[in-house]
Amino acid sequence: MQCSWKAVILLALASIAIQYTAIRTLTSKPFQLCPLPSPQNCGLGGQETEPPFERGAAGGGGCDDYPYFSINATRKTHILVLATTRSGSSFVGQLLNQHQEVFYLFEPLYHVQTTLIPRLSHSRNAADRRVMLGASRDLLRSLYGCDLYFLESYIKPTPTNHTTDKLFRRGASRALCQQPVCDAFGPADVNVEEGDCVKKCASLNMTLATEACREKRHVAIKIVRVPEIGDLRALVEDPRLNIKVIQLVRDPRGILSSRIETFRDTYRLWRIWRATGRRPYNLDLSQLTVVCEDFLSSVSTGLSHPYWLKGKYMLVRYEDLAKNPLLKTKEMYDYLGLPMDKNVEDWIHANTRGSNEPSAKHKFGTVRDSAANAESWRLKLSYDMVTSVCLAVSNRVVPPNPTPTPSSSACPFTSIM
Ligand SMILES: *[C@@H]1O[C@H](CO)[C@@H](O)[C@H](O)[C@H]1NC(C)=O
Ligand SMILES: *[C@@H]1O[C@H](CO)[C@@H](O)[C@H](O)[C@H]1NC(C)=O
Ligand SMILES: *[C@@H]1O[C@H](CO)[C@@H](O)[C@H](O)[C@H]1NC(C)=O
Repeated sequence: MQCSWKAVILLALASIAIQYTAIRTLTSKPFQLCPLPSPQNCGLGGQETEPPFERGAAGGGGCDDYPYFSINATRKTHILVLATTRSGSSFVGQLLNQHQEVFYLFEPLYHVQTTLIPRLSHSRNAADRRVMLGASRDLLRSLYGCDLYFLESYIKPTPTNHTTDKLFRRGASRALCQQPVCDAFGPADVNVEEGDCVKKCASLNMTLATEACREKRHVAIKIVRVPEIGDLRALVEDPRLNIKVIQLVRDPRGILSSRIETFRDTYRLWRIWRATGRRPYNLDLSQLTVVCEDFLSSVSTGLSHPYWLKGKYMLVRYEDLAKNPLLKTKEMYDYLGLPMDKNVEDWIHANTRGSNEPSAKHKFGTVRDSAANAESWRLKLSYDMVTSVCLAVSNRVVPPNPTPTPSSSACPFTSIM
């Protein structure tokens, strides 16, 4: 029998080709980046480094047509909103919370911090940070699996019989204010106020909360206590999870302006600076530089398109969202691969057209007149206060990769960092 070496090589080549195709199909599909009009990268759409075959394959029809989003419709999407205080994260949280099929939690890491490092709210101490991050990742992993009992070990006082009335911002979570978790409101009460929920619902039964979580198709969690996206890599890569990160950024001037109004004591010296034009000698600059540093490192990680974040990262600027809430929200839902439901749309209409009356009921009330709000810092805050502070950061931190230079109008915050 003639089994020539040519035949053997041909056979080997053919099998390599088949394997290659198979591997490529497997690896490219789940990580595919949805070719949105570039919400995920601050208007740098043209600069992506996707190989042409992926972009071509996705076509122009949006991602809904593509089978990999519906391969297993029963798989939960684990949505993570990564933000910082006063960056508009409550607003984004609500955009997810209003969806019928989303179980939403508002900053569960609050409990981790108050338990592990009670005195420090902005700890940059490396050891504290490591402890906090490790615990945070474990907790998030459990919560995405709807294991709410895991949270109990961080709640003070420790819940007895799996009930507590100390869950942070329980009222911000629709599912925790509805039947069967809470009997105070019927199905007709669509928009339960956070305060009403806390007042009228009995203690939270964690068993019922766990069941409510399991009933929902998706889980969304908003956090403001993880500095940057790189800290979440282990979670994003965890094969048991199906994480989709939405990172929210806002012009640091807007953040500072909002914090000065909201946390009046902590930001007292900044208020003095604003009023007098002179910087108090004992002002803690890190209250702002931390924001600039975290944004800078997080956004450069996100925009350098590391393989582990492919298709799992979207960068949203608060300013864009405030100007164009409906459009931006639609883009967010497209990226998540979920249809946007009517509840979400109604909520947007009800909450972004209001008058600009100062009716913020509490510190974390969401935006009333969103566009005006996004811009209001211009009136209130001296440009110099932030530029001088954030400029110092950008001179120290060199972004990795040859970052494409964004046009200054596309990314206002980069122009001052
Ligand atoms: C989808 O995934 C779930 C859980 O992993 C599994 O039980 C179910 O059988 C899968 N469904 C299909 C259609 O593959
Ligand atoms: C917890 O449940 C047990 C048994 O049902 C009961 O005896 C006990 O009083 C409950 N504890 C509290 C604090 O409610
Ligand atoms: C919490 O809900 C579960 C499930 O309905 C129930 O079995 C349990 O008794 C409830 N716990 C309390 C303390 O009411």
